[in-house]
Amino acid sequence: MSGFSLDWLDLREAADQCARDKNLLVDAMRFLDAVREDSEAADESRIVMDLGTGSGSTLRAFSSVIEAQADLHTWRLIDNDAELLAAAKRRVPQGVNAETHLLDLNKIAELPIEGVELVTSSALFDLVSERFVHELADTLLANCKGKPPGFYSALNYDGNTDWTPAHPLDREVLAAFNRDQQTDKGFGPALGPQAVPVMEQKFIKSGFTVACAQSPWQLDGGEHELVRELINGIGNAVKHDSLLEPNALRSWMEFRMAHADSGTCSIGHIDLLALPRPG
Ligand SMILES: C[S@@+](CC[C@H](N)C(=O)[O-])C[C@H]1O[C@@H](n2cnc3c(N)ncnc32)[C@H](O)[C@@H]1O
Repeated sequence: MSGFSLDWLDLREAADQCARDKNLLVDAMRFLDAVREDSEAADESRIVMDLGTGSGSTLRAFSSVIEAQADLHTWRLIDNDAELLAAAKRRVPQGVNAETHLLDLNKIAELPIEGVELVTSSALFDLVSERFVHELADTLLANCKGKPPGFYSALNYDGNTDWTPAHPLDREVLAAFNRDQQTDKGFGPALGPQAVPVMEQKFIKSGFTVACAQSPWQLDGGEHELVRELINGIGNAVKHDSLLEPNALRSWMEFRMAHADSGTCSIGHIDLLALPRPG
């Protein structure tokens, strides 16, 4: 399974939905409500722009938290993968207004940001570069006509992975995986585990109040299929790392696969919500 295939996104969706911090989701919805109350056009629907939509996991997360309000928003779903956008469109909950935009996020100037009140994303910002975060934040501010949008970014990998039972190579494999996380994923050198600190710093500097919450995957034998794919994914990511001995890596993978049904795995993520400071 590739990193962005529909199969992989479907396999991880339940763990993602369970991991997301619900308080930040509710705070993001409350922000949209407050914008609505302040607005002269209170009867118009609010616009949410979801970056790197995939099959629409973030839209579904918002809809499930406050179902009754989901239809008050129009979602602009952005991805450069037409197949994923088609799946996202098919899965839009009933009553929710959503439009898809096939776009490369690197072309920030082409994003449909007109009227956007909340920018959302999940499992995206550990893939992007520091430059991308700075350019995106600057573009949002430059085009907001004095009303900056909120910014919600969930499930950013934070560099921590814990397995039980332990294996002597766990630490070396994790270090190699974290090195791979900072290689180019299509946006220049990726932030990997630095995603949240970089976003936090940039949005605070830009006049936002930033809240963060941990959203780890807590996996056990109940998610053995996901755990096995994760082990394969880690193995693929680190197989060319010059500091890992191939036979040692092979026996680490065999050990992890043998415990996929009975062991546990925690993968650290952080959710972030940046809201413009009043005034
Ligand atoms: C890890 S997936 C996350 C998908 C979804 N947000 C979720 O949480 O399930 C990353 C998504 O970003 C999209 N993506 C990656 N690079 C992109 C780019 N340069 N432009 C637009 N979308 C991109 C991928 O197609 C994929 O859907």
